[in-house]
Amino acid sequence: MKIGVLTSGGDAPGMNAAIRAVTRAALNSGDKVVGIYDGYRGLVYAKFKDFRRTDVSEILNKGGTILGTARLPEFLYESVRKIAILKMELDGIDALVCIGGDGTYRGALDLSNMGVKVVTIPGTIDNDIASSDYTIGFSTALNTACDAIDKLRDTSSSHQRCSIIEVMGRHCGDLALFSGICCGAEYIITNETGLDKENLLESLKKNRLEGRRHAIVVISENITDVHELAKEVEKYSGYECRATILGYVQRGGAPSPEDRLLASRLGKYAVDLLHEGVYGVACGVVGNELKATPLAEALKQQRKSQLELNNLAKKIS
Ligand code: F6P
Repeated sequence: MKIGVLTSGGDAPGMNAAIRAVTRAALNSGDKVVGIYDGYRGLVYAKFKDFRRTDVSEILNKGGTILGTARLPEFLYESVRKIAILKMELDGIDALVCIGGDGTYRGALDLSNMGVKVVTIPGTIDNDIASSDYTIGFSTALNTACDAIDKLRDTSSSHQRCSIIEVMGRHCGDLALFSGICCGAEYIITNETGLDKENLLESLKKNRLEGRRHAIVVISENITDVHELAKEVEKYSGYECRATILGYVQRGGAPSPEDRLLASRLGKYAVDLLHEGVYGVACGVVGNELKATPLAEALKQQRKSQLELNNLAKKIS
């Protein structure tokens, strides 16, 4: 087979490890591999390179993606996808491995519905692909967030401040929930918990009256303006308050061993599925077992609310 591999959407640490695993597993089985640059855009503009094993040397430990990535809203149009399919045919590409998040999965499903042999690998720091327990990049981003929150705790404690820290996740609360628990946050706000402002302010005020030197509030992005929230906290709680948006730093850095391992497992698995003639599926690890889920179903699945973790966070704050 001639297998094309691409990364699309927001980059995530470990994408390179996945590209490497796909390439090596395919070449070692006698397939040809084509690196497709800049996501679906590279498919439309035929930005292809035939990969040898050395093209993926020394990338296992590197952040970002050597293939580059992009978001291409125009890929929603069938006419644009037809061009992409034509470019694949002209180059003799038989099948695709698409590494990315939600948007990448939608593009892959649309291609699959048009007859393209495609499998996906979950690569996003958001952990919002429910067909896999973890997505590639989440572990590294969690480490980055924890490192930053620990540092913010130091300065918050010195100044007796409350620190509100906004982490990424798109609409998924996992980064906030996991980092909040790992860093002993006093309060965690996600889409699942919702923002109960009165409760937040009361609880911070109580903390302050009990003489606690600082408070850490971890909040998912896309919930509220954290700088405005900091002003309100300062007004009502008795704490001075500062807001920090961690932002794109969460997407960078060398992938953690967990992400390298996950990416390596899923990259090889994607190639195995193609060999078995299984297409139109999303690769994942569920309960530590490799699992293929039909793309349409994977896109419908919602990450289950982390009830146990939400309760845990409350009980040990
Ligand atoms: O999907 C990954 C992610 O980093 C989200 O956490 C964030 O909301 C979004 O991408 C940012 O996207 P962009 O790079 O297009 O600004």
